[in-house]
Amino acid sequence: MSTEWVPVTAAERANAALIHYPRFKELHDEIRLCQHLSKIAGEPQCMSLEGRTGAGKSTLVKTYARHFPAIETNTGRQTPVLYLEVPSPVGIRDLAAVALKRLGDPAYERGTRAALTMRLIALILDCGVELVILDDFHHLIDKETNHILAQVSDWLKYLIKETGVPFLVVGIEGHVEVILQANPQLSRLFAAREALQPFVWDPGQPATCQEFSRFVEYTERAMECSLTKELPRLELLSRIHRATEGVVGNVMNLMRVANEFAGQRGQPTIELEMLALAYAKRLQKHLNNQLNPFADVALVHPTALITAPTELSRQPASRARRRNSAPALSLQEVLRT
Ligand SMILES: Nc1ncnc2c1ncn2[C@@H]1O[C@H](COP(=O)(O)OP(=O)(O)OP(=O)(O)O)[C@@H](O)[C@H]1O
Ligand SMILES: [Mg+2]
Repeated sequence: MSTEWVPVTAAERANAALIHYPRFKELHDEIRLCQHLSKIAGEPQCMSLEGRTGAGKSTLVKTYARHFPAIETNTGRQTPVLYLEVPSPVGIRDLAAVALKRLGDPAYERGTRAALTMRLIALILDCGVELVILDDFHHLIDKETNHILAQVSDWLKYLIKETGVPFLVVGIEGHVEVILQANPQLSRLFAAREALQPFVWDPGQPATCQEFSRFVEYTERAMECSLTKELPRLELLSRIHRATEGVVGNVMNLMRVANEFAGQRGQPTIELEMLALAYAKRLQKHLNNQLNPFADVALVHPTALITAPTELSRQPASRARRRNSAPALSLQEVLRT
């Protein structure tokens, strides 16, 4: 029986919505190619994927892994794609144990480093692993000393060579590259180097605006919500881009929270006020930005910033709406109070 959580309510569906934007699909195909080519070529075709925090790297690779779930067969469990999070701090034993546990070894922590390694190689082959994904690969840089953990990186090279299975390493931009560059033999195995960049908004290059515009549109559709028409669409999108720096995680955060506020107020669309509040509550500190891109145009109610969402969500929509009959202030006025 599957125990996977399935969103039921509109709010749950909105929060769980997965956006298949073009770059997402493109990278999915790149990973598929590495997995496929490694099966038919003599040498594993490894890939790296980097991007800033919130770019959507983990979501992408976890979604990919879900397409290749483990299955039980007469000869044992088959795990075509092995997704692992690199622990922090990481040592060879830690990483081997995490992988052995995922592959079902009941004694995943028992034995010497060499014994764990030998068991892992055997299990990767027995379980028919076709791709290993190592998320948070930047944990190979020691936080305290800033040194690359050369032993772990050497061990990985050995593992890739011994198993012939390709690895996809995923982590923070710049760091992944530094780790690979520090080990030429490991680096050579990673012919495919990809990045998941934030969306760009440059009116001088209309294609960039179109791409971001489509992403926001996909998001509205997937979340079953719609954005305000208080501003011309282009102006609104430009402000959303400024508010999120084009980072997928920030856009999703803004939309999810603003949509939740709109739901609590019983409003059918996400108004500027909701965007302004969502930005103030969830993004402003993270992005260390003094200016709220929605504040100069949004009208907001004085109680909105101090009312806990859970309190509002317990109220029927009609009562929440009545609360809105208070006189509106500009967000800047509210933030000053
Ligand atoms: N394609 C997508 N569809 C819907 N939501 C997404 C998508 N990609 C990312 N998100 C959302 O953005 C947020 C950040 O995504 P994710 O954790 O994948 O980023 P990351 O690049 O792995 O960040 P970090 O480097 O901090 O680990 C999450 O809340 C996730 O749900
Ligand atoms: Mg991540």
